[in-house]
Amino acid sequence: HGTSKINDLGHLEIGGVDTTKLAAEYGTPLYVFDEALVRQRCREFVEAFQASGLKFQVAYASKAFCVMAMCRIVEEEGMSLDVVSDGELYTALQAGFPAERIHFHGNNKTISEMEMAIDAKIGCFVVDNFVELHMLNAIAAEKRQKVKILLRITPGVEAHTHEYISTGQTDSKFGFDLGNGSAYRAIEEASQLSNLELLGIHSHIGSQIFEVEGFRIAAEKMAEFAIAVRNQLQVTFSVINLGGGFGIRYVSEDTPLPVAVYVKAITEAITSNFGSNGYPVPEIWVEPGRSIVGDAGTTLYTVGTTKDIPGVRKYVAVDGGMTDNPRPALYEAVYEAGLANRATEQPVEIVSIAGKCCESGDMLIWDVNLPKVAAGDLLAVSSTGAYNYSMASNYNRIRRPGVVFVKDGQSDLVVKRESFEQIVGNDVIPARMKHVS
Ligand code: LLP
Repeated sequence: HGTSKINDLGHLEIGGVDTTKLAAEYGTPLYVFDEALVRQRCREFVEAFQASGLKFQVAYASKAFCVMAMCRIVEEEGMSLDVVSDGELYTALQAGFPAERIHFHGNNKTISEMEMAIDAKIGCFVVDNFVELHMLNAIAAEKRQKVKILLRITPGVEAHTHEYISTGQTDSKFGFDLGNGSAYRAIEEASQLSNLELLGIHSHIGSQIFEVEGFRIAAEKMAEFAIAVRNQLQVTFSVINLGGGFGIRYVSEDTPLPVAVYVKAITEAITSNFGSNGYPVPEIWVEPGRSIVGDAGTTLYTVGTTKDIPGVRKYVAVDGGMTDNPRPALYEAVYEAGLANRATEQPVEIVSIAGKCCESGDMLIWDVNLPKVAAGDLLAVSSTGAYNYSMASNYNRIRRPGVVFVKDGQSDLVVKRESFEQIVGNDVIPARMKHVS
């Protein structure tokens, strides 16, 4: 998919660049992003909303993959950006991303994060709870600013997804509950705080969702709530944000819907609930992360050792693992892989891909059908663009891999591989600890 293909040498090529050349030039493990595919995904969202004729913002959820070059792409594609920490905010600002298009999320924004974001004049805070609501108002008052906010609502919609990544249900650390009246109370309080400007409400029902139903129900609940709030409190929302969560294909059995289908379901649910009763249709905002970058990323690894346990399993170890992709260990996430240097060869054996970390749980793929694998082969794991680099760690003091963008036969390094100096860069040896040797 995307610009990936097999070239005349039988090598996997992405963005017109031979992956064996990438491995030779930048080393492995290496995250490779198909830039054309990232931009295509951005445009699919933007164009689907344009087709609806409604006002909208597509905010890339930068948690999926937040580096300065990515912020540039998001800016160039005319989208907004959602951040959840001072680090993501700093990255966006350093990249020159327009502050007014930044939305700040999170259930525990610190005072210094709120100050930093207000000083930068970001576009909007998505306020998560009562403590934050009053804290933000106080900080804004101190700075004599009026700050735009959305309130994060927990709509009580449970999306069909892995338990750890569903956030729309009532027992959640996020947001104001729709069920117990706290959402209603938050609107009342927010509209009385003079340094806050309440734009509207936000919900996010989960991640890696394939059905439109969850989005449709969430959109309906939010619309009903907005109408009730207007009738009872005379507060009108100009924005309804429905979060992210659009599923992508990790393995061939996955069947995500085209972006346009999700967007159509959402815009139709919103328009059919407003309009008729004189309520102006609010702007619709969404926050896709995974669906922007997920399937555009491929990780290249070099195969090292193998261990054959006859009649049981063959382990094939690569030069990365849970440090660059913690998702299999964390969420039992599944991936597909192929040999990038012998991409035309028929699969002959089922093997399991192990990482190099010192624990048994460090497995990338259980049971993948590959040609005869040997040390030095280049393994390509697909759909690693989202929540891989952004969740990478230095466990075992392994250096995090570099990231390249490929496009039209050209490769650009956008994140360097970490250095040994960086590995020990924050370490301090107290002066009293002398060398004894
Ligand atoms: N908006 C909010 C408020 C969110 O919490 C999230 C994701 C998104 C947008 C973007 O969701 P997406 O479109 O990427 O599904 N680390 C997990 C995923 C955690 C998602 C957290 N929130 C994983 O690797 O699957």
